[in-house]
Amino acid sequence: MIYRKLGPSKIDVSAVAFGAWAIGGWMWGGSDEQEAIEAIHAALDHGISLIDTAPIYGFGRSEELVGRAIHGRRDKVVVATKCGMVWDREEGEFFFHSSQEGITLRASDKKIYKCLRPESIRAELERSLKRLGTTYVDLYQTHWQESTTPIADTMATLMKLKDEGKIRAIGICNANLMQLAEYGPIDSNQEKFSLLDREIEQDGRLAYCRRTGVGVLPYSPLANGLLTGKIRPDRQFGAGDLRRGNRRFSPAGIEKVNGMLDQLRPIAEQHRCSIAQLVIAWTYSQPGITSVLCGARTARQAIENAAAGDVALSAEELETIGATVRV
Ligand SMILES: NC(=O)c1ccc[n+]([C@@H]2O[C@H](COP(=O)([O-])OP(=O)(O)OC[C@H]3O[C@@H](n4cnc5c(N)ncnc54)[C@H](OP(=O)(O)O)[C@@H]3O)[C@@H](O)[C@H]2O)c1
Repeated sequence: MIYRKLGPSKIDVSAVAFGAWAIGGWMWGGSDEQEAIEAIHAALDHGISLIDTAPIYGFGRSEELVGRAIHGRRDKVVVATKCGMVWDREEGEFFFHSSQEGITLRASDKKIYKCLRPESIRAELERSLKRLGTTYVDLYQTHWQESTTPIADTMATLMKLKDEGKIRAIGICNANLMQLAEYGPIDSNQEKFSLLDREIEQDGRLAYCRRTGVGVLPYSPLANGLLTGKIRPDRQFGAGDLRRGNRRFSPAGIEKVNGMLDQLRPIAEQHRCSIAQLVIAWTYSQPGITSVLCGARTARQAIENAAAGDVALSAEELETIGATVRV
């Protein structure tokens, strides 16, 4: 496993991280608690040191599972969580309706607001600390950006929380270039980035982070599992699974991506690795990338993803992979 500094912070993180969204069950058709805890233990036992979660992932469930899994080994784990998506108050900017399973169009379901107001952030952090069973969060990130709170107020709150020792580093997610620049001295930026999702490469956000030393944490690097090459065209996704009804996961969409991935098999065979491992290694090898947030639901997946941290690709292989798989 490769370890890297998280932006300007003094925190070391593994180049492959554990993403804890799916284990919360929300938007993923549910999850199994025991399997989730075993997945986190397997990740930590195989060199992964960074776990990324959020309160909204199962309305507290993902954070609780992470808390249970890291009990007794807190000091060996870099815990990243988030603020700014609330379901217990109607403040900030309305985002969407959601049931316990996932996003809906029913006005009678929970209302999710984006809210980065100072008192809301403080209240959210206290609840996250309780669920995670810890007194501090290593990396605290604004989950989505919103228009009703000035970024300067949000940033001032995060700086105060850092001074108070409740958080060790500050990160943001889902920010455009202007918002990124307005935040000032942050440690990391978390954005969607994979072989199939290259926007941050094209719109200057990745280059900005490289230039300013801000760490970059790509999310959905496996395109929600599609880039593992293991999803067959006849795969049925359960109720509430975000992949159900998604065009990318239609039989034709799956076949198209699997066809591109098949062209990478000779490179994977040379490295004795799986397609998922090749894709993860490509992602953490891109200049400016710090740690790739790989979602996993089982110990087997977590171990496979962690081992991608040992796949060293040549410049030529990186170029071939990047040119072969794209939308
Ligand atoms: N800040 C944000 O707004 C934001 C948004 C999205 C994600 N994230 C973060 O990024 C993390 C990762 O993103 P993601 O969960 O969307 O997608 P991902 O990492 O692209 O895909 C994860 C899914 O792929 C499948 N998978 C993973 N490893 C596998 C393996 N080795 N073999 C076969 N299948 C495998 C699993 O689903 P199945 O087993 O069901 O197929 C897993 O749930 C999240 O957990 C979260 O921490 C953040």
